[in-house]
Amino acid sequence: MIRTITRTPTNAYPSWTASLLVAFLLIGNVPVAARDAAILSARDIFHPVFARHGMVSTQESTATRIGVDILKKGGNAVDAAVAVGFALAVTLPRAGNIGGGGFMMVHMAESGNTVAIDYREMAPAGASGDMYLDAQGNVDKQRARFSYLSTGVPGTVAGMALALERFGTMSLPEVMAPAIFLARSGITVTPQMAKALHRRQKRLSKHPATARIFLDDDGTALASGEQLVQKDLAGTLTQIAEQGPDAFYRGDIARKIAAAMAANGGLITIDDLNNYRAVVREPAHGTYRGYEIFSMPPPSSGGVHVIQLLNILEDYPIAFLGHNSADTIHLMAEAMKHAYADRSRYLGDPDYWKVPVAGLISKAYAAQLRERISLHYATPSENIKPGDPLPYESNETTHFTIMDSAGNVVSNTYTLNFSFGSGIVAAGTGILLNNEMDDFSAKPGVPNAFGLIGGEANAIEPGKRPLSSMTPTIVFKDGKAYFATGSPGGSRIITTTLQIIMNVVDHDMNIAAATAAPRIHHQWLPDKLRVEVGISNDTLDRLSAMGHDLEIGNAMGSTQTVMRIDGGFLGASDPRRVGAAAQGY
Ligand code: DON
Repeated sequence: MIRTITRTPTNAYPSWTASLLVAFLLIGNVPVAARDAAILSARDIFHPVFARHGMVSTQESTATRIGVDILKKGGNAVDAAVAVGFALAVTLPRAGNIGGGGFMMVHMAESGNTVAIDYREMAPAGASGDMYLDAQGNVDKQRARFSYLSTGVPGTVAGMALALERFGTMSLPEVMAPAIFLARSGITVTPQMAKALHRRQKRLSKHPATARIFLDDDGTALASGEQLVQKDLAGTLTQIAEQGPDAFYRGDIARKIAAAMAANGGLITIDDLNNYRAVVREPAHGTYRGYEIFSMPPPSSGGVHVIQLLNILEDYPIAFLGHNSADTIHLMAEAMKHAYADRSRYLGDPDYWKVPVAGLISKAYAAQLRERISLHYATPSENIKPGDPLPYESNETTHFTIMDSAGNVVSNTYTLNFSFGSGIVAAGTGILLNNEMDDFSAKPGVPNAFGLIGGEANAIEPGKRPLSSMTPTIVFKDGKAYFATGSPGGSRIITTTLQIIMNVVDHDMNIAAATAAPRIHHQWLPDKLRVEVGISNDTLDRLSAMGHDLEIGNAMGSTQTVMRIDGGFLGASDPRRVGAAAQGY
């Protein structure tokens, strides 16, 4: 659902350098004050939620309430996060999961520690570099995205268990009880879930174990108001609660997953499940205009590139140029092209590939890249590096953010990759399986579902984790966690997260206004500047005149943001996806 637009340039526009001069001449005069007053009143349309003791922001309101309940019972942010993580596997099955993987940033206030928990899927031992190539050497997308071969060894259960054990205060049965209850007794299908199921009806109908859960007997998707009961999933969750993650990686559940794989040409064996490890990593760390940024390091590209982008943009007078002005959008888009070009060459699983993180996130490298950015003209992506991209696939991931009264923070993004992942439920488990293997580069230079290309750094190897864009992030001010955010959206996750940070830091928006503001995205290839509806036509005209190829596409991202303020917390759930909720107590 993307419209390519060609806007005819009207005439030449004064550059922002000239505008800067004019503004300096006007400083202290009425126009500046009048402009500020107007901006403030427009921003006041959007209000974050306020609460005194803690805040939970997720994409699904029942899961939000479950998180708040845990906080009220005295659990900390990590207890609440693990409860939310398991609850979303039941209430938001298109993205919440135990058959996928993700990343959790955790900040513990008392120790001052901030860590990144990597529970990304791993390639099974039987995986190989050419496993998705057909006889002609072309990538077989069906195999890479929708077959049993598309599934990486799931990491969510290991990640949640690790987080709880290291940083939580409650037991697995306590935090999993709400998810088990909802899976067993059923939930009412909401209009948005009905819509998501309807869109994927064909995919889900291909697998009897999936169809039995999500479709009616006549093969149509469950409708709004019907009950979604997930008995097998309830059984699986109960085993995990009672026996710990071993139930999933060694016990009955592992046996069922391995059996489903063996019967259907998949690769994952009991050994692969046994060998899965969630890992605690050092976060990617940077600074932006005096704020400190802690975000997800490789195997996500998110943290590295959000910091790289902020470094490039830090030297421009973004606040002065104005929010979503043509000059600001131009500079952001140009910076994005460089970051995504680097992503395709340098980023991969750090356990397999030496990622030059320090170089990529250094201020000196950003300064070098700035020299290649024209203030007035778009540099065609082909002059940065060539490629042959595909259209974007629309898809699902989900983010949640939690802060508690002690100042602990969790910022978590996890995913099945596409909406409902591969669409395959491992028989008898109720678990929807991810199709995360498509995030590897199946063939150098051939784009994945998000139009992202890669090479050797992200080639398929046994035990390796596919490169991700997920960007759970915590921003610090004066040494204290200030706000945390993140989003789904495939390749757009990095740029969406960037814009939340810039809207707060540069444009002084509250987190609700920062969330609602129209977004833009460029990923180098395809050479398109994607914009949401809501950017003015004359701004688009100016961007066209600078040489940008514009596309108005679907809304991008679904951010969940929580901010600590004096006396409490603010929360803001993205209005782009119905059903999201920020709530505190
Ligand atoms: O890890 C990644 O970057 C992708 N698998 C994320 C997919 C995604 O965000 C889809 N959601 N909207």
